[in-house]
Amino acid sequence: MYDVRMQRTTSESTSPSREAPPHQPPRVTPAPAVRGTFLLATCQGGAEASLVRRQEAILPDVVKAAWRRGVVTFRLGSSDPPDDFFPDLVFARAVIRSLGQVSGASDAQRIAAVRALAADTTWDAIHVWHRDRRLEAEIDPQTIRAALLADYSLQATQPTAARPGDLVLDCLIDTADRWWVGWHRAGTPMSCLPGGMHPKALPEDKVSRAWLKLDEAIATFAVDMRPGQRAVELGASPGGACQRLLEAGLTVVGIDPAPVDERVAAHANFEQWQMRARDVKVKSFRGFDWIVADMNIDPRSTLESLGRIVTAAGNKPAGIIATLKLPDWSRAEELPGWLDQFRDWGFLPRARQISTGGREVCVVALRTRRR
Ligand SMILES: C[S@@+](CC[C@H](N)C(=O)[O-])C[C@H]1O[C@@H](n2cnc3c(N)ncnc32)[C@H](O)[C@@H]1O
Repeated sequence: MYDVRMQRTTSESTSPSREAPPHQPPRVTPAPAVRGTFLLATCQGGAEASLVRRQEAILPDVVKAAWRRGVVTFRLGSSDPPDDFFPDLVFARAVIRSLGQVSGASDAQRIAAVRALAADTTWDAIHVWHRDRRLEAEIDPQTIRAALLADYSLQATQPTAARPGDLVLDCLIDTADRWWVGWHRAGTPMSCLPGGMHPKALPEDKVSRAWLKLDEAIATFAVDMRPGQRAVELGASPGGACQRLLEAGLTVVGIDPAPVDERVAAHANFEQWQMRARDVKVKSFRGFDWIVADMNIDPRSTLESLGRIVTAAGNKPAGIIATLKLPDWSRAEELPGWLDQFRDWGFLPRARQISTGGREVCVVALRTRRR
């Protein structure tokens, strides 16, 4: 049986701004008559085994079928999961019901094959994305999406992000002439986005890619940061994440032996403590609302640094946003134990391998109890 709690993590509750107005009955477009007997999950290339291990732990009646870089399919067991099923697989970016693959000599032929698979289904939204971003130079997903939208008489101008509740046709470009086709009902912030990929590119004025990673983490987990709050980041140089925190109106301390970019360092609400995290006196961490960690060290050392801070008397941060870098994918097996440490400290952790990150897991943990 499927555990409904796994469908949607608290972080991925629906975005209020896109919900139907109060008192209006929700519009529900019926799911396809042919539902498909496979789940297809996409992930960062290299994370497939971690994804499968996670799946085996939480969905024992689902059996791994085919896989290739960035894509794993699972044969469904006897149960039929709900339309907006989004198991907490951590390493999965998108999870859809697979209807199969289509191939053909042209987009028109492949679109006709999509029609044949999905028969008379009416779709609210269409997501098209690449298995491998390197294909983007060769094939423009927007051209394929535009053709599919026209074929299904949907407005060409509709936003790429679906609304919670939308029935979404998924088209995953595997190779130039072969697409995976499937569907899902949008629900979580990630499942509203094509392939669960963060829709932004790194703006030119940002000092590092960490800006984008933190931007995605805040969106994925709906992190409620408020102007005027205080944040400290362990591993702050060159300063992209601090820049994102400053833009959110927070007062920020960045800790790193390496200097922070002068565009960040010059900000009136920023201060750098140029040293290693472990050399900062623990009482200096009093009064921070958020502890952010993005150090390029072993996850156990990151957890040690965090534990020292959040378990000290007088330190009561509301939340932790930690990047746990995996020296290799096999270390992902330790994740359940790492998350237990957050629980032991009195926090509720949620984890995801976000789409703009590297070989790492982002953990957002909110305080659940006083120590
Ligand atoms: C991935 S970079 C951080 C990027 C940064 N968060 C940003 O927004 O640009 C990792 C950083 O961790 C720092 N670091 C490694 N060990 C550290 C420690 N023990 N204490 C503080 N910083 C550390 C490194 O100096 C390096 O600048």
